[in-house]
Amino acid sequence: MNVLINESRIEKRLNEMAKEIDKDYEGKEIILIGILKGSVVFMVELAKRLKTKVQFEFIEVSSYEGTESTGKVKIVKDIKNTIEGKDVLIIEDIIDTGTTLTFLKDYLNLKRPNSLKIATLLSKPSRRIKELDVEYIGFRIEDKFVVGYGLDYNQNYRNLPYIGYVESEEEF
Ligand code: IMP
Ligand code: MG
Repeated sequence: MNVLINESRIEKRLNEMAKEIDKDYEGKEIILIGILKGSVVFMVELAKRLKTKVQFEFIEVSSYEGTESTGKVKIVKDIKNTIEGKDVLIIEDIIDTGTTLTFLKDYLNLKRPNSLKIATLLSKPSRRIKELDVEYIGFRIEDKFVVGYGLDYNQNYRNLPYIGYVESEEEF
């Protein structure tokens, strides 16, 4: 596995992101909604660095098969508690085409939160099909399929402490 972003770079960036989020949400409480399962490692590591009061919620949507998107988004598991009137921050591992987040933002907005923002560890801007506002981006990367820090290839490699990639799919 090749290393694209090592652990210390990720940790440094998470410290910066947490500081920025604390500043933006001063005096407020945040409901973090993690998109299962890819966001879990990023969500935990980011949340540990926040001084703001947070609650955890999780939502699960239908996902990729292998390295290609099916293009369809479905809710597999919904959030448990109401977010009406709350300040909500969606936590995602990576924004690729933007399809998942565009759908989820519209879906969660129907639940009438006070505010709804997005924090993602990674973004692949060159792949974007749906334009959407993303308030917090850890790293912008080129069009490469990456794994680790929560991201998977067919459910594997989520536990790698860095963002890695292989030159060709046979190496997975
Ligand atoms: P989007 O709907 O195209 O923005 O895709 C977002 C989802 O695709 C993410 O939540 C990931 O699960 C998955 N995904 C996109 N690119 C990668 C990648 O490079 N590695 C692992 N998963 C990816
Ligand atoms: Mg995912």
